[in-house]
Amino acid sequence: MKIIKILMLFLVLQINAQQGGMWIPSLLEGMNEKEMKSLGSELSAKDIYDVNHSSLKDAIVHFNGGCTSEIISDSGLLLTNHHCGYGAIQSHSSVEHDYLEDGFWAKTMDDELPNKGMVATLIVRIDDITKEVLKDIPSSASLKEQQQLIDQHINKAKEKAKKETWQDLKVKSMFDGNQYLLFVTETFKDIRLVGAPPTSIGKFGSDTDNWMWPRHTGDFSLFRIYANKQNQPAEYSEDNVPYDPKHFLPISLDGVSENDFTMVFGFPGRTSEYLPSVAIDQIVNKLNPPKIKIRDESLKIVDGYMRKDATIKIQYASKYARIANYWKKWIGESQGLTKSKAVEKKQALEVEFQEKNKNKPEYASLLNDFDKLYNDIEEVSVARDYWVEVVYRNVEILNATVKLYRFERSILKNPDEFDEARTTLLNSYKGFYKNYNADVDQDVFEKLLTLYKDESPQAYLSESLKSADISELSKSIYTNSSLTNLEAMTTMLSGSSDEVIKKINEDPGYAFGKTLVDNFYQNIDPKYQDLNLQIKAVQKVYMKALIETFPDERFFPDANGTLRVTYGKVQGYQPKDAVVYQPVSYLEGVLEKYQPGDYEFDVPEKLIELYNNKDFGDYADDGKMPVNFIGTNHTTGGNSGSPVIDAKGNLIGLNFDRVWEGTMSDYNYDPEICRNIMVDARYILFIVDKFADSQRLIDEMKLVHPKKK
Ligand code: ARG
Ligand code: ASP
Repeated sequence: MKIIKILMLFLVLQINAQQGGMWIPSLLEGMNEKEMKSLGSELSAKDIYDVNHSSLKDAIVHFNGGCTSEIISDSGLLLTNHHCGYGAIQSHSSVEHDYLEDGFWAKTMDDELPNKGMVATLIVRIDDITKEVLKDIPSSASLKEQQQLIDQHINKAKEKAKKETWQDLKVKSMFDGNQYLLFVTETFKDIRLVGAPPTSIGKFGSDTDNWMWPRHTGDFSLFRIYANKQNQPAEYSEDNVPYDPKHFLPISLDGVSENDFTMVFGFPGRTSEYLPSVAIDQIVNKLNPPKIKIRDESLKIVDGYMRKDATIKIQYASKYARIANYWKKWIGESQGLTKSKAVEKKQALEVEFQEKNKNKPEYASLLNDFDKLYNDIEEVSVARDYWVEVVYRNVEILNATVKLYRFERSILKNPDEFDEARTTLLNSYKGFYKNYNADVDQDVFEKLLTLYKDESPQAYLSESLKSADISELSKSIYTNSSLTNLEAMTTMLSGSSDEVIKKINEDPGYAFGKTLVDNFYQNIDPKYQDLNLQIKAVQKVYMKALIETFPDERFFPDANGTLRVTYGKVQGYQPKDAVVYQPVSYLEGVLEKYQPGDYEFDVPEKLIELYNNKDFGDYADDGKMPVNFIGTNHTTGGNSGSPVIDAKGNLIGLNFDRVWEGTMSDYNYDPEICRNIMVDARYILFIVDKFADSQRLIDEMKLVHPKKK
């Protein structure tokens, strides 16, 4: 009897066990559908994705390439994160009307603010074209020839695919090149800012709380898709009208309880769950440490200036947040990978893999190949990271030289396009210099170039850097270079193409920057790309071999910016011995963290007032206002702004982050400890309604009570 009980318990645990995974919405029938139901979902695979009828997927929108958003009204109202709308909110801000500081709420549709260059993409259809693409690829052909054939097949499939004139096609490879999917998409280009809470709500806790639980952030903002009169994508025009969607998500007023089913539907950017142990070891011990150190130094300098100067604070807020975000993530990731013994786990799997494949010559050398290739690539990978972090990401004047370098190359190649290329370049510099301060940059330059010179692999350093006296160099560049401000840059770029080329090459900033860029393209990148291609080829075979070797395991294709479904349930976790985290946070916690005047933990007066008066409208849970909750959904960067959907297809939350102990999930998802963090939909409604008095927005949403019979 006891044994039967234990067996039963085991079975139940098996079924309820959360294993993670980011699944392709058009391929959910079968295992996923069953598993979702066992977790409490009432949705069928067809409710989620259907080509012939409207389904949930018609409300899920790729937001400006990097985030996710969802449609929450029949007038194209879009919900996404505050940190996803941040650049747009910032771009409409100045010291006089600072929407980051004060929030922004369009009173009427006419007040909604257009955002040049912003796009929002819907998925119309997903076709599996694997057979066509991988048909007749001789394994005897070289990798390059194989790729050429694959590309030809992809082009043929695209030519054949049915689509409307205003739609686009994109083919993406899954499972490292073992599966190919074709996406028909619609990209809208008139996306307007509708509302955003002040940073003290939308980014409450800022970088201190980022990647952490317990969390208390109202990380949301609202936009709207506008379309032409035919409801099709169009460039911005006053005549455009709010988009009429095939589907929008109703919003549940009933909230969540522990163990409730949750589904996150969005565009996760990148995971690498099937890397060999050598690769993970390299990330933890060789790649992450220098990247963390470079950003650490750069952030310290920028932070010092931001605290002293209000203009610099606005100029650098978005850039600082972007650099700080992955700096902190890498720290958590390295810790998590070490603590969860990810390398050892992978090694154990590899022993089993080797054992099971001992009679398969085609798989016999895979792990050795990985060992050798990762060993070969290590030094150049580190050198490449130094270059990317120092030259491309952190020292702004060097980033400006990269742009100038590409411009020079392109006009040397296509002299006829000089005027057009110059206009494009100047436009991009206009945005760049709006948020540039040469004093900040000079300090970063000196610190990071010293690091680069002293600590990056010497074999990949440019002669110019090896022999440089950094402080002399910095003085000469920041006093004499035209790269330090837009005016000087514009003057330097005036005149004929020959004159411009002559002038830029005489500029001390460009002259130095160019040696670094040249060095990258001649000595670093080709070697890196060559080895990386070989690694990818081994990874492709390894992926196929893993699926064959472990037929009972569930494999999902790594995230690659395509639409995915992940599901789980509301659940707390135990970060360390004797500590248990509850799954829901409340407004009480905002007040607990409140530090008047602090740039991370200030709370708007109005919110305090609402709290003191318990003026929560219909949005509270037994008199308490929920703010955030966590669950076992397997998410990654790009899932920000993804809707969290309940068992019946209603919106219950908005994904925005993961917990510190679980940031390693991109390489090693562990259901024990990996949690995603979501804003409770009721907190969003409460802020829009009670804090912002934007009744007009509440009125266009559909609020429902799915839990009340
Ligand atoms: N960590 C989250 C993500 O990767 C949120 C980032 C924005 N918030 C911030 N404080 N930087 O995007
Ligand atoms: N905050 C991330 C994003 O912006 C989500 C995550 O990495 O969990 O997409």
